[in-house]
Amino acid sequence: MSSSDYHCRVAVFGATGLVGRTMLKVLEERNFPVTDIVPIASARSAGQAVQFKGQDYIIQVPSKEAFQGVDIALFSAGATASKQWAAVAAAEGAVVIDNSSAFRMDPDVPLVVPEVNPGDIFKEDGTPEHIIANPNCSTIQMVVVLKPLHDLFGVKRVVVSTYQSVTGKGKVGRDALESELAGEKQDEYTHFHQIAFNAVPQIDMFTENGYTKEEMKMVNETRKIMGDDTLSISPTTVRIPVYGGHGESLNIELAKDFDIDQVRDLLAASPGIILQDDPSARIYPMPLTSYERDEVFVGRIRRDYWHPQTLNMWIVADNLRKGAATNAVQIAEVVNTKRK
Ligand SMILES: NC(=O)c1ccc[n+]([C@@H]2O[C@H](COP(=O)([O-])OP(=O)(O)OC[C@H]3O[C@@H](n4cnc5c(N)ncnc54)[C@H](OP(=O)(O)O)[C@@H]3O)[C@@H](O)[C@H]2O)c1
Repeated sequence: MSSSDYHCRVAVFGATGLVGRTMLKVLEERNFPVTDIVPIASARSAGQAVQFKGQDYIIQVPSKEAFQGVDIALFSAGATASKQWAAVAAAEGAVVIDNSSAFRMDPDVPLVVPEVNPGDIFKEDGTPEHIIANPNCSTIQMVVVLKPLHDLFGVKRVVVSTYQSVTGKGKVGRDALESELAGEKQDEYTHFHQIAFNAVPQIDMFTENGYTKEEMKMVNETRKIMGDDTLSISPTTVRIPVYGGHGESLNIELAKDFDIDQVRDLLAASPGIILQDDPSARIYPMPLTSYERDEVFVGRIRRDYWHPQTLNMWIVADNLRKGAATNAVQIAEVVNTKRK
């Protein structure tokens, strides 16, 4: 294809949401070679405009026509919308990169974090799959860190506790905290209980085994992305009243012996990771550290006090960026390498 023939029409489905707006921002910041943007949202937003590179684009409702000529469709409008529209967009020729949980565990759909398994994006003939799933936000930041450790030392078991931003529940999650902080009466708590000045150890609904759906996503998605069904992941997911990013405390049992400096050097040199680990200078990542950043920040690295082959660490990432929009755009960048 000559450069004058190049076109890349990108649909952003969910363009008015927290993730969709971040997608537009990330596409612009990373100078993704977009020739046309098609913003899509619900009837509530139809006719309004979103801005991309200083230009207004009018929001459409989803339809077969809206996806016509679209090369890459970034979906972030929830699982119901994805189930209804992903096949339609794919039939129109788009590569769909879906942020919802609709297809993540479908064996025919790759679940991709570009730092971990970019090769899964493509079929055997080298063309991209029609639908590619973006993992859950808390899973993405964890696997970015587990991958280099797994390659060098073999990860056996991870005990993970999360400290998740209210923005992980979208606009309603963010607005609920603001409304509670303003002292407004709540008919029903968006985060199951008051979230202001609180921490709620429930994200999404409980399953029959006593874990929440969010926790089981961390179990199942991690194994699929890492391509290893022997990994034991033991999660507890907790919502806390912060913006900016999700924190995770990780306790990682390794198969091989390690030394701490080796682990620090390995993680500092791994893609998508920034090491911030100098406790004596009070340097360690926090949600505000990761806000509006695309990397996963790692600190508090230390050997487990009781188990010498086990590591403790604390990781943070912006759930709307690396946990959603940035990861999706990175997938689109890999897809695009085979389109040029
Ligand atoms: N927030 C996170 O950290 C995060 C991380 C990873 C994945 N995700 C996933 O990304 C998706 C979006 O999350 P979000 O946080 O951006 O949610 P959000 O702020 O609530 O935004 C939802 C978006 O979807 C649109 N939408 C909803 N139902 C629709 C329908 N039936 N038809 C057309 N458009 C519809 C909304 O349009 P209107 O504005 O017109 O209502 C809005 O643009 C969800 O699947 C979520 O699980 C979120």
